[in-house]
Parts: sequence; C-alpha cells; structure tokens
Amino acid sequence: MRKLTVLTSGGDSPGMNAAIRAVVRSAHYRGMEVMGVRRGYAGLIEGDFLPMPPTAVSGIINRGGTILLTARSEEFKTSEGQRQAVVNLHEAGVDCLVVIGGDGSFRGAHDLVHQWQIPTVGVPASIDNDLAGTDLAIGFDTAVNTALESIDRIRDTAVSHDRIFVVEVMGRSCGMLALQAGLAGGAEVIIIPEVPFQITRIGTLIKEGRARGKHSYIIVVAEGAARGLAVASDIEAITGAETRATVLGHVQRGGSPSATDRSLASRLGAEAVNLLADDRTGLMVGLEGEQIISCPLETAWTGRKHMDLSLYELARVLAT
Ligand code: ADP
Ligand code: F6P
Repeated sequence: MRKLTVLTSGGDSPGMNAAIRAVVRSAHYRGMEVMGVRRGYAGLIEGDFLPMPPTAVSGIINRGGTILLTARSEEFKTSEGQRQAVVNLHEAGVDCLVVIGGDGSFRGAHDLVHQWQIPTVGVPASIDNDLAGTDLAIGFDTAVNTALESIDRIRDTAVSHDRIFVVEVMGRSCGMLALQAGLAGGAEVIIIPEVPFQITRIGTLIKEGRARGKHSYIIVVAEGAARGLAVASDIEAITGAETRATVLGHVQRGGSPSATDRSLASRLGAEAVNLLADDRTGLMVGLEGEQIISCPLETAWTGRKHMDLSLYELARVLAT
C-alpha cells in the first residue's frame, strides 16, 4: 500500500483544514495510507509524524487555522536540514508528499523533488494570493471578507466623526488583498505596491474633497506599499483633519473559511492526490477560471501573477 504524507507550512490561512481533509479522504479513497506532519518543515526535520485515518479529519472543514500546525523553518533552507527531513521520510516509509502552503513552502517542495527525489505536489494556500499559477490561493477569499467586515465597521465611525481612516491590510509585497477589500468596501483611496503613489497628491485631493463637503474618507493601504501609521500621519499633516490608522494584522488570518475557500480547498486537495496517484510530481495544483489545473512548482515564484489593474481604476472612478 502506498503511503502519502501531508503537511501545512508558512503562514496559516482559512481553508487549510478543508485541504487537509480533502487530501486525507481522497488518498484513503484511492487505497493509500496517510500520515500527517506537525509544524510543517520543522516537524519534518524532527520526524514528528502522526497517522491520519479518515476520522482524523472529521469536523474540521469549517475550522480556521490548521490542525497539523504550521511553522517557518530556517533550518529547512539548509542542506543539512533537508537531509534530516529526507532521512525521516525514508524511515517512515513515505512514498509521496503534499505540501499545503505559499510560494516559500513550494521552494522547499521544489528542493525535495529535484535535489532529494521525493515525489511532491503543492496546494496553494495564502491569504496574500501572491502565487503565480493559480487565480486563487486557499484563504484569500475569507481574508478579503474579514478585512471587508472591518472596513465596514470603520466606515460607521469615520462617517459619524467626519474623520479620515487609514486601514492597513496584509499581503506581503502583493496588493491583491487590499485591492479586493478596498473595492468591495468602497474605499476612497487604495494604496498598493503595484501602483506608484504620491502621498502629497492623495492628501491634496482629500483636502479639496473636504472643502467641497465630503468629510470622511477610508484609505486602504497594503502593508507592502506603506505603513498605515505613517500614511495617517502624512495625511493629517497635509489636510489638517483628524486621521486615525487601524492595522488589521493577524485577524485577517483566522476565522471559519468561506464557501469559496472550502470548495477550492476540497477540489485542490483532491487533485493533488490524483496527481501523485498517477506518479506525477514537482507540480502545484491551481485554479484557472473554473478549471482545476496543474503546473510546475516553480511557476509559483517565476511566473507572472496576473493582477487586474482595471479594478484599481474602477475603485478610483467609483470613489469620486
Ligand atoms: P509561505 O509558504 O507562506 O510563502 P514562507 O515564505 O515563510 O511562507 O515559507 C515557509 C517555509 O518554506 C520556510 O520557513 C522554509 O522552511 C521553507 N522555504 C522558504 N523558502 C525556501 C527556500 N528558498 N528554499 C527551501 N525552503 C524554503
Ligand atoms: O503570508 C501571510 C502573511 O500573513 C502576510 O500577509 C504577512 O505579511 C505575514 O504572513 C505575517 O507573518 P507572521 O505571521 O510571521 O507575522
């Protein structure tokens, strides 16, 4: 009987549990034995395996976080760390591996495939949605909705006080989360790393708007473009208007996954098992339009992430 192992790595994202469930149940359906690894590559180096019968994933499809726990492991970036992980995989009799995580995790998976000959497939999960090769990563949709809920609440108080609010959202160097949450939240200004901005120009436009009678503003800023506190202080200096900053932070990583994320995780997890069962390796699964596809792991970081900047333009037009 073939033995498949699954781990989650890097920043957690809502829907990782649904992906674990899909991997475990699909693998059992195909007659494989399944093991899990705790704390991602750190656990792989320590040999922290656990058996995963189908019942191990009962009642988790709706839960945020990851029951397998996750970690960032500097040691796994070294050849010695990887060697130890591979020794443990061999000792546990593992035939193949599913890595659920972001592009950093896929770089590690790429090493396992090409330097250590461990058949591995990646399942993209990241609230940043910054991986090329897939339209959507697991967790992004939920994180957008979490950020949106906060923006809606902040708007209530911004309007009541005639204030300007800056809302900093996560995303690392990618502005996807800020763009989608900002558009859906009707933000007057969206600042993302993909589009150059001038703070003096934004401040002047807000000052002119306030003179015309529009008093409250929401500025959504991606953490990869600028820090919310710095933007708020600059805007207050230019406009002379009370400006507050809210850094949403890790609240965006938690929570029960949306229907979109649960369904995506179920489809991607099952497809990862299908590929490994067919002896296909070195791939990541992804979503292209409505289709589940696969492409080489390295596409995640060498490919070009498509970002629809017409959405940015639309948000700008609708905010005027
Ligand atoms: P994510 O997978 O969400 O992008 P990280 O970038 O933190 O998160 O990566 C998760 C883990 O993947 C790292 O802690 C490390 O163990 C491994 N990893 C990241 N980059 C590399 C790399 N260049 N080579 C090997 N392993 C890597
Ligand atoms: O990659 C997911 C993410 O939440 C980013 O949006 C953010 O920059 C980073 O992880 C935060 O990492 P940590 O949880 O290690 O502070």
